[in-house]
Amino acid sequence: MKIGILTSGGDCPGLNAVIRGSVLKGVISHEAEFVGFRWGWRGVVERDIMPITRHDVRGLSKQGGTILGSSRTNPFEGERGGPENIRRMLDEEGIDAIIAIGGEGTLTAARRLWDEGGIPVIGVPKTIDNDLAATDYSFGFDTAVEIATEAIDRLRTTAESHNRAIVLEVMGRHVGWIALHSGMAGGAHAILIPEQPMGIDEICHYVESVRDRGRAPLIVVAEGFKLDTMEEAHSHLGLDAFNRPRLGGIAEKLAPMIEERTGIESRHTVLGHIQRGGAPSAYDRVLATRLGMAAVDAAVDRAWGSMVTLRGTDIARVSIADATGGLNVVPQSRYDEARILFG
Ligand code: F6P
Repeated sequence: MKIGILTSGGDCPGLNAVIRGSVLKGVISHEAEFVGFRWGWRGVVERDIMPITRHDVRGLSKQGGTILGSSRTNPFEGERGGPENIRRMLDEEGIDAIIAIGGEGTLTAARRLWDEGGIPVIGVPKTIDNDLAATDYSFGFDTAVEIATEAIDRLRTTAESHNRAIVLEVMGRHVGWIALHSGMAGGAHAILIPEQPMGIDEICHYVESVRDRGRAPLIVVAEGFKLDTMEEAHSHLGLDAFNRPRLGGIAEKLAPMIEERTGIESRHTVLGHIQRGGAPSAYDRVLATRLGMAAVDAAVDRAWGSMVTLRGTDIARVSIADATGGLNVVPQSRYDEARILFG
């Protein structure tokens, strides 16, 4: 069996570990052969294909980024896109299956290619945001939380030295998982997430009560957070290059608002793409490797249109449709639990 692998969408620590897991499992257990599509779906439509041997994946699980490159190309667009062209390409290249490693956009395209065009696809969920339904955790998330937690630890000492409030903005798109976990791990005094809009008065109440206890307030805000008077913070943001609402910029807005209302000198830090770069954590390497291995088994079983997933501590299979049918948001109970610690 000849299997083509692609990585698509924003990169994520652990992508290379998936590739390694797939290739090793495929070569050792199934005598499979592998190629990589370069730059995500773009490599599929433009036939930018490279061989991947067992030798190529040596030592790869600890390497950040993706050896295949990534892009946000939509395989249904362009002259050479669409299921018919892709089917022809697969036949001519002798490729029996595509393992598509990606987030919501990638998996939605994969589902449509199977549903509408019978393209033999297996999905592997990828996102630092942990926002995909049908998997308990996605690889990349643990690494991002680790990096954000270290940032909180470092910001705390400088905040305490100057008796300042610091607002740290972390990624997460429309959900607050990275903020929730890093905020809990780092002992943030308030955690602001998109699932729980809050007003500036309440935020300042937390800030002042921290100050009254003699501490320097540390606030973690998810990039998708909106003040309950949304226009105050988001009116300037507009759309990004993919016509999605632009995220981020919220910490830059909040810090001066806090300073003005509380009189506490305030600074902000935006962590940005540092959260996606560098080596994956051990947890993410193991999860990504297991998902990669399971994806090959699914291809050998011809379980097209399915996605490998983490359920508890087990790797399972679900339909890609289940994974693309809604966001994995932070439940109220998880937020209430964290909120008790705001004091
Ligand atoms: O989905 C992962 C993510 O890093 C989000 O947390 C963030 O909003 C977005 O991608 C950034 O995308 P880009 O790489 O296009 O700046």
